Amino acid sequence: MSETLAREPLAPSSLEGALTKALGPNAVFTGDAALERAQGAWMRLGSPVAVVYPKTTEEVSAVLKIAHRLGAAVVPWGGKTGLAGGATADGAVALSLERMNAIEEIDTGSATMTVQAGVILQVACEAAEAEGLLLPLDLGARGSATIGGNISTNAGGNRVVRYGMMRDMVLGLEAVLADGTVVTSMNRLMKNNTGYDLKQLFIGSEGTLGVVTRAVLRLRSAPISQNTAYVATEDFDAIPRLLRALESGLGGGLSAFEVMWPAFYDLVTTEPAKGTPPLARGYPYYVLVESLGGDEAADAERFERVLGQALEDGLIADAVIAKSQAERARMWALRDDVGQVNRNGPAVTFDVSLRIADMPAYVAEIDGKLRARWPGVDNYVFGHLGDGNLHVLVWTGEKGPENKAAVEEIVYGPLAALGGSVSAEHGIGLHKKAYLRMSRNDGEIALMKALKTALDPRGVLNPGKILD
Ligand code: LAC
Ligand code: ZN
Repeated sequence: MSETLAREPLAPSSLEGALTKALGPNAVFTGDAALERAQGAWMRLGSPVAVVYPKTTEEVSAVLKIAHRLGAAVVPWGGKTGLAGGATADGAVALSLERMNAIEEIDTGSATMTVQAGVILQVACEAAEAEGLLLPLDLGARGSATIGGNISTNAGGNRVVRYGMMRDMVLGLEAVLADGTVVTSMNRLMKNNTGYDLKQLFIGSEGTLGVVTRAVLRLRSAPISQNTAYVATEDFDAIPRLLRALESGLGGGLSAFEVMWPAFYDLVTTEPAKGTPPLARGYPYYVLVESLGGDEAADAERFERVLGQALEDGLIADAVIAKSQAERARMWALRDDVGQVNRNGPAVTFDVSLRIADMPAYVAEIDGKLRARWPGVDNYVFGHLGDGNLHVLVWTGEKGPENKAAVEEIVYGPLAALGGSVSAEHGIGLHKKAYLRMSRNDGEIALMKALKTALDPRGVLNPGKILD
């Protein structure tokens, strides 16, 4: 909530009336109908006073004009799969982009795609694929996450090591500012150095500076080959060496490098999980590696040869290569079966970033501290190690905010000294606000606040997220 705004108490009826007048029938829901819609994939999104479904950028603008005038908070909603509470809409108007779901154009010549914000990630990926192109973003929530949400949170996922994060796939976008002003910046050029790169204001700012309504995405050529394997290593030192060996040996084809500590590997390969272990248990590290390329036979041969060399060089202790699409799908299903961590109750979850070299000592430190406090703790560590991103999921057997804060103190504690980040990819939202200062200095936070005040002086857009 912005300190600059003394918000008048909302008269719900005038707000609802104005929204209904702007959006027409079946586009504004209040009361129980609003609450029903506030269930996200992982969490409840608070109690919105209204949920609205604009169909056009003009309608999004109309909603923001009304909210700005009446001093109502507006929280943008995509697929409601975020993990940082950025879409929590307590007492706010939730603005869903769900009905803005058109793929407006795919330009195969320049490999771009123009979409509305509510297009589901998987739908966009499949549309690109049908044209022989690739939208490289890939993550577990692909079936419900939206492009607008992916942009607003700068989503990461499974292929960042090769293609970067969402930010690297956005050429241009359109956003609606807090007062309803539409900024159309639908650049489709790869290179465009004409002043401030305005799209960056809206990428990863979690809906606090504007509502993304449309975007131009950069596509790549669809891969022809896909080679996937699990490998096991005997010691952590081998992991960065293996990463380098794969990056150079596969000639830039490496597209995933996902490491699992044994607790996570065992969890997703033990009942009630459906997966079975692709490699023997008992190794200290497992790595899911994948390469995308342009020549089926040659790439398969190269993949096998590079892994064979790594075995010979002692970088890996064992390996199994997927021999069919079904085997590949089973390998990825293990990685995506993160929900298993909530088997006994909700785990406290993290997506920290740090230098790969610092990881073994960091994991040992937090694991030691967690175990000292909760001897029966389950501490599952895995992550997009090629990107320096670890997920830590902790189940202590206790619940509630005090338990969460105690776990957070242990997991975040060492990061500042290591130059690490409290959020590699999920964002700050509500959940990590208290820890923003561990990863950002005073000067950075002051500039963030100045931007927020300049773009949203009345504190209408997703107030209380990222910053107080
Ligand atoms: C993943 C989510 C938790 O990597 O970011 O599975
Ligand atoms: Zn992740």
